[in-house]
Order: sequence, then C-alpha cells, then structure tokens
Amino acid sequence: MAISRRRLLTMPPKRHALTRSPPARARVHDMRRGGFFSLSPREREQEPSAARVMHRPGSAGPPFALQPAAVRCGVAVCPPSRLAGRAPPSGALDVTTEQQSFTRAIIERHDAFLSPNYPRLPIAMQHGEGSRLFDADGREYLDLFSGFGATILGHCHRDLVEAVTTQAGRLWHVGNLLPTEPQTLAAKAIAEAGFAGQSFFSHSGADANEAAIKLARLYGREHPGADGPRYGIISANQSFHGRSFATMGATGQPKVREGFEPLPEGFVNVPYNDLEAVRQQIDSRTVGILIEPIQGEGGINLPDGDYLPGLRRLCDEHNLLLIFDEVWTGCGRTGRWFGYQHWDVTPDIMTLGKGIGGGMAVGAMCARPELAELYDARKQGTVRHATTLGGNCLAMAVTAKLFEVIGRDRLLDHASAMGARAVQRLERMQSRLGMIREIRGRGLFIGIELDLEAGAWFDGAAAVMKRCLEQGLLIGTAQQAVLRLAPPLVITPSELDEGIDRLERVLAG
Ligand SMILES: Cc1ncc(COP(=O)(O)O)c(C=O)c1O
Repeated sequence: MAISRRRLLTMPPKRHALTRSPPARARVHDMRRGGFFSLSPREREQEPSAARVMHRPGSAGPPFALQPAAVRCGVAVCPPSRLAGRAPPSGALDVTTEQQSFTRAIIERHDAFLSPNYPRLPIAMQHGEGSRLFDADGREYLDLFSGFGATILGHCHRDLVEAVTTQAGRLWHVGNLLPTEPQTLAAKAIAEAGFAGQSFFSHSGADANEAAIKLARLYGREHPGADGPRYGIISANQSFHGRSFATMGATGQPKVREGFEPLPEGFVNVPYNDLEAVRQQIDSRTVGILIEPIQGEGGINLPDGDYLPGLRRLCDEHNLLLIFDEVWTGCGRTGRWFGYQHWDVTPDIMTLGKGIGGGMAVGAMCARPELAELYDARKQGTVRHATTLGGNCLAMAVTAKLFEVIGRDRLLDHASAMGARAVQRLERMQSRLGMIREIRGRGLFIGIELDLEAGAWFDGAAAVMKRCLEQGLLIGTAQQAVLRLAPPLVITPSELDEGIDRLERVLAG
C-alpha cells in the first residue's frame, strides 16, 4: 500500500545504530593516558571508572552520572559522586587544588594540540543543561552569554536533542543537488518569520555575509551605474561582519583587518547612526548598505528611530540593496524574530548565524526572490555560489525545530519580558553602585557600559568578565568597557535574578 507523503514525514525513523547494543570493542577516551583506546567489554570493566565519564545531552539526571554505556563515548574525567553540582570556587582561576586536576589535564592537552588563536580561559566545560554549564571538575556556572549567542535555546534543549538524534538515525547529508525535507522546513520557517525571501544555507555568519556580498555584486553587474558595474558596499564603524576577506573588508574595526591587507576593494565604513554620512558616501559604484540593526561586537549600539527606515529610503532612491546582518539579532534574541522588525522596515537581504543553529554550525542568507534568482543555477547556466555541507540534514533538523520551539513556547514574548526585567534590575544596580555609565539593549541582548573613570577595582570589561567566571557566571564583553548579556531565551526569572546578583557582587569588588 502506498504511504502518503504526510505519513512519511511523521513516521518514526527505523531502528538505527544509535539504538543497537554496543559493539564488542569500543573507542574510549582516557585523559590520563591521553588519547583514544579500543577496549573490549572486559577491559572496560577493569578500567577505573573515574577515568571516563559520559556526557549525556539533554539528560534530566545529575550532570555526571556514570553509566556503563558511558564508557563507549566518554569524553572527560571526574569522579562524579564527589563533584557533581559543586559550587563554583572563589578566588583565582588557576588554583591548583585536587578538584581542578581534571580541568588542568584537559587544558594542557588542549594547548598542545590546538591553534592558539583564541585567548582561551582556564576552564574546560563538559556538560550543559538549559542556562547552566558544568566544568570537568563538576563546578556549576550560570550562562548569560549562550556561547557567543549560538546556544539561543540554552544547552541541550530537549527538543533540539531529540530533533538531531532522530535525524542522525535517518539521513545526514546528500549534497545540495538533492532537496531534503529538513532544509525545506528551515527555509520556510525563516521566510514565515521574516519576509518572503529565499534562503541559502552555509555554516557561519561570515559566510552568510560573504554570500550576500557576492549576490550584491551580481546585482551591481546587472544594474550598472554611470561608470560600469557597481560593487561598493557601505557599512558602519564598529560593525562586525566576519573574518573572511570580504567580511573583514566590511567590518568597521581596523584591528580586525590589521596584518591581512590587501583586502578586496569596494568597502567603506561610515559612522553608525549617521544617515548623512551614508548619503555622502554613495557614488556611481555603490551597490549596497550592510548594517547590523543593533551593533553587537561594537558594544550593543542601538539605532535612532529613523536610522533604519532612512537607510531604506536611501536604498530606494539610489537603487541600492539594503542588507541587514542579523547574525546576532536574529531568531528571537531581541524579542522579535529579527532585529529589523522593531523598526518597521524590510531589507532586501538578511543574513543569519549564531542562534539559528542553536549551537550547530549554521549560517543563512535570505534574499528577495528576484535577487535570489541571480544565483539561480538553471537560469544562469552555471553555479554561482555553493558550499558542500551547508544545509546538511543534521543542522537543518535543529534549525527547523528551533523556530518551531520559539513559536510554540512564546519565547519572543518571554525574551522581551526577561529583557525588561534585566534592565530594570540593572538600573537599580546602576544607582546603587555608581560605576555603570549606561545600560542599553533590546530583549535579551543587553550592554552594560562601565564607567572606567569611576575609580572601581577593574580597568576594563575583560577583568570583570574573568572575575565573574570565578564566581560561576558567564558573561561577554565588547570593546574596552562594555559587558554583554545574551542569556538563552529559555532563561527563567530566578536564573536571571541570580545572574544579576552575582554580577553585582563582582562589580562591588
Ligand atoms: C553581526 C555579526 N555578523 C557576522 C559575524 C560572524 O559570524 P561567525 O563568527 O559565525 O563567522 C558575527 C560574529 O560575531 C557578528 O557578530
């Protein structure tokens, strides 16, 4: 009997490898021996259990519960009975207590084998649940920064775990010549939440922006100016759009570009929030304006009421493309699906990253259909833009589910309410402490600008961030003086209050 397409979509996956009994021999990671080893069941029995701990995503149980099956996929070490749920330590981060030995072991190997491009902190996270993280030694942290905005539904959200594990037993990737349902659902969700555009999926915010910039150049060739094809992109000072060559060019922070010149030509930066500055830069080569609706890395800078609509008018007057970089502000972070929706203005192209994957590597560029057509391989007779793994089924299953959960659980309203609560409490803290210059943000995207002249114990935001970590609190920074809060959209009022109380204790010194 033929099975309807609808039924096919809702059928549970066939039993797959994940649900089978464990193989006779298993690969086990042993930190003390420093690597993976193939062990028989008997050998596994004999191994001291403290050496291997399973990370159980989405589990409701204690963070480090040891199970025999854990041995198969153990990734970190700690005797759970002693350390699970341990409160964060006070004092310096590099204390050498016994409890920290597991973290230290991880970090030593980490430093030996990983590129040192990140200013890494001396803590090795092992497990997460909602707004909480736990390190390899069992200490607990409250996460008010969501992995730089990526884990927007918190850690190991039950529905996302289910979506990815179900998909993992069904289909991972088939290449982008073959349509798949998860990718279709994810693209549909973006269009329904935002504007009627068509999406291209990639892996990061930078390559989503790269796709947008390339598309703008095709548009500029189709619609040339007086001096030929147009390719110029105007973006803002203090903006951040990525670290690929084109996006470094667009990024309005010289320190990001330094050492990598020459960059592709055609990028110019102007002061943010200054319509006249944009107008003055438009010339016969300009094809688009690339703007973050709210600047993130620049320090949570909000536009004046008429800035984004004014950019729209300029684009319409000069036949330019308005490109909104929603990598930080997309997917509910600000209390609307996308940041631009606070200002009643629609872009021609928007780019997404970070939260759209919930922690999976996903970037997306959504363009009006008549623009997306410039990438139409059949119409253009060639592939103009592509990536092998973009839109793979695993990532897309998570993205599609993420949109569903945000809608189902009314997380946009929740983000707005939690954001308002946070700002209110922070303002009270501001009047109590007198070392905060300004608090600004929308929804759960909040900047706290410190007054570095107030004579407080810290010399910048980075010092506060490190001290917060010691007190079991993760926050972010931007520029020299801004603390950033970007908690998961699922944060509860009591978690939020607890985080702000910890922050106040840290700031008070
Ligand atoms: C607004 C914005 N756009 C683009 C990017 C680049 O994203 P990714 O780091 O995923 O390449 C970032 C990263 O912080 C960003 O904040």
